[in-house]
Amino acid sequence: MRFFVDTADVGEIRELAATGLLDGVTTNPSLVMKSGGKMADVIAEICSLVDGPVSAEVTATDHEGMLKEAHYLREIADNVTIKVPLTVDGLKTCKLLSNEGTMVNVTLCFSPAQALLAAKAGASFISPFVGRLDDIGHEGMDLIAEIIEIYDNYDFETDVLVASIRHTTHVVQAAKMGADVATIPPKILWQLVKHPLTDKGLDAFLADWAKTGQSIL
Ligand code: E4P
Repeated sequence: MRFFVDTADVGEIRELAATGLLDGVTTNPSLVMKSGGKMADVIAEICSLVDGPVSAEVTATDHEGMLKEAHYLREIADNVTIKVPLTVDGLKTCKLLSNEGTMVNVTLCFSPAQALLAAKAGASFISPFVGRLDDIGHEGMDLIAEIIEIYDNYDFETDVLVASIRHTTHVVQAAKMGADVATIPPKILWQLVKHPLTDKGLDAFLADWAKTGQSIL
């Protein structure tokens, strides 16, 4: 499973990219707002740090407007992926952009029917928002299972990108289901490495090592 980070914070992206574990980045208008930067500058800087897909979301809501913004954004770098919302205009834009060879991430997906349409529109990625479904009392991860089943039935090439992740269990569940990608907030990405027994075990090894008086080099 590929790991994308869900942020527009360049500092955090730089730190995560240095681990070698980062496969891409997703942003959205709210994340760009939080970064305090100008969309095109932020995307350009992120693309200089990460080789994998970097999602930049259009903000127009009509097809023509989305297309114009997408054509502008995709010129920023080769790894820009255009993010469009799951609306009729978004799907129309997705179809056209994918025919042009541009990677498209269809976002704000909350149902299997929507995911089916995104695949038919040639999306490179579908972004089902599991956390926001959990928030309203649904089981967000059930949607992931349904989409994977549907895509497998027809060998759709659209990657399932699990989004709106709220905790490490979402990541593990996504991996068990065979989701292609998880886009993960930085804090949760760092939490994935943590286990108290790892810390405890390492402390004990180092204490015993100190008793030997040796050094490896
Ligand atoms: C996906 O690409 C979105 O940016 C993101 O996962 C939304 O998550 P949220 O529900 O935490 O805002």
